[in-house]
Amino acid sequence: MPGSGLILAIESSCDETAAAVVQRGSRTLSSVVASQITTHARYGGVVPELASREHLRAIVPVVRAALLQADVTLGDLDAIAVTSGPGLAGALLVGITYAKALAYAQNIPLIAVNHLEGHIHAVLLNERAARAANSAELDEEPALALVVSGGHTHLYLARPADGAWHYTLIGRTVDDAAGEAYDKVAKLLGLGYPGGPWIDALAQHGNPRAVPFAFSQIKTKLHLGGKPPRTKAAKTAPIAALDPHFLFSFSGIKTAVLRYVDLHNLRPEAESRREALFTGPDAPANPNVEAALATCDPQTLDLIASFQHAVVGDLLKKTFAAQESLGVARILVTGGVAANRELRARFTSEGTRRNLHVAFPTLALSTDNAAMIGAAAWPRLQSREFAPATLSADPSLALGSQHNGH
Ligand code: KG4
Ligand code: ZN
Repeated sequence: MPGSGLILAIESSCDETAAAVVQRGSRTLSSVVASQITTHARYGGVVPELASREHLRAIVPVVRAALLQADVTLGDLDAIAVTSGPGLAGALLVGITYAKALAYAQNIPLIAVNHLEGHIHAVLLNERAARAANSAELDEEPALALVVSGGHTHLYLARPADGAWHYTLIGRTVDDAAGEAYDKVAKLLGLGYPGGPWIDALAQHGNPRAVPFAFSQIKTKLHLGGKPPRTKAAKTAPIAALDPHFLFSFSGIKTAVLRYVDLHNLRPEAESRREALFTGPDAPANPNVEAALATCDPQTLDLIASFQHAVVGDLLKKTFAAQESLGVARILVTGGVAANRELRARFTSEGTRRNLHVAFPTLALSTDNAAMIGAAAWPRLQSREFAPATLSADPSLALGSQHNGH
C-alpha cells in the first residue's frame, strides 16, 4: 500500500544490474543483483558496449524478481529511485529510462541518487536496521567515509542536517582507484577478474613484509599542474584545492609490481597460471583458490601479500590522518574493496586502538547493489526532492562540495 515508505531502487552504473525494495531507508525487503562478471572476465575488465547490452537483457527480470521477493506490487510503491551517475553512460541510461517509465506509469515520484552516496548509505542502512531492531534513538552522527572500489577512492565528510545528508570531498585518488590496482595486478599475474577476491584469498598465504612497496607524498601541483587528472577514476572531482596528505595514487604500485615481475622473471609462471585457471571461454566467477595456489611459488605469494599490505596500509594511514584532522569519531569504509579481509581487520584494530567507531557494509552490500540506492533515496522522499522528467545519465557526476585544504 502506498504510504508505507516503500522504494523500488534500480542500479546499473557499471557491470551489475540490480534492483531492491527498501522500506523507510532501513528495512531491505529484497536485493537482487545480476552480475555480468562472466561476460567481462575474458576481457579482464568491463567492456561498456557489452555492459549496456547485458543491462537491457537483465533489467526487466531483475526488477520483477526484486518485487516478487519483497512480496509487493508496483501499486504498493511510494517512489522509484535510480542511480544517475557516476558510471558508464550507456549502462546508466538503461536503469534511468526504465525507472522513468515505471514512475510515469505508476504516477509516483522518481528520485535520482549518486552512486557514491549509495555506497555510503550501504553502511548507514545496516546501522539504521540494527538501531531499529534495538528501538534505539535514530539520531545520526557525522562520519568520515572512505569509498574504495574499482572506480573510486574518495574520502568524504558526511554530515546529517535537517533530515538530509551533506557531503564534503576531503581526498581522492589522482590516478587509479585502489580496486583498479587490484584488478590490474591480478591480470598481470594471470589471475581472474575482478582481481580483488583472488588477491584477498592468496595474500593470506604470503609474507606481507617480503617486498617493501612504498608510497611517497603526492605533490599535486608538480604532478598535474593543478589540472584534473584524465583517468576513469579521477573524473568525478577536481583535486587542486585538496590537502595533498589526503590524496591517493595507485598507478605507481602497479608499475612497481610490473617491474618486480619482470626482474624476477615471473611472467612465464603467470602465463601458465592463466592457462591452468581458464580452461573454458569464461573465467570462473569465484576465485578457485586451491587451483591458483597450486600454480603460485612462494615468491609470487609474497609479492601478492606485500602488494595488498602496502595498499591497505596507505588507505589506513591517510584515512586516519583525515579523521584526526577533521575530529570526527566515526569512520565508514565502503565499496568493493571494503570486502577485503586484511582491510577490515586493520581498520577495525586501528579504530579500537584510537577508540573510534569503524563500520563496514555487509559483504553483499560492499560491492554494487540497489539496496544502498534505496536507502540513500529515503531522506529525499521525505524532503520531496524529486528528479525532473528530463533526468539523464551523468557519467562524471560529483558528490557534494569540496573541502579547501589550504
Ligand atoms: O563497488 P564495486 O562493486 O564496483 C565499483 O563501483 O567499482 O567494486 C568492485 C571492485 C573491483 O575492483 C574488485 O576487484 C574490488 O572491488 N574487490 C575487492 C574485493 N572484492 C571486490 N578488492 C579487494 N578485496 C576484495 N575482497
Ligand atoms: Zn560502486
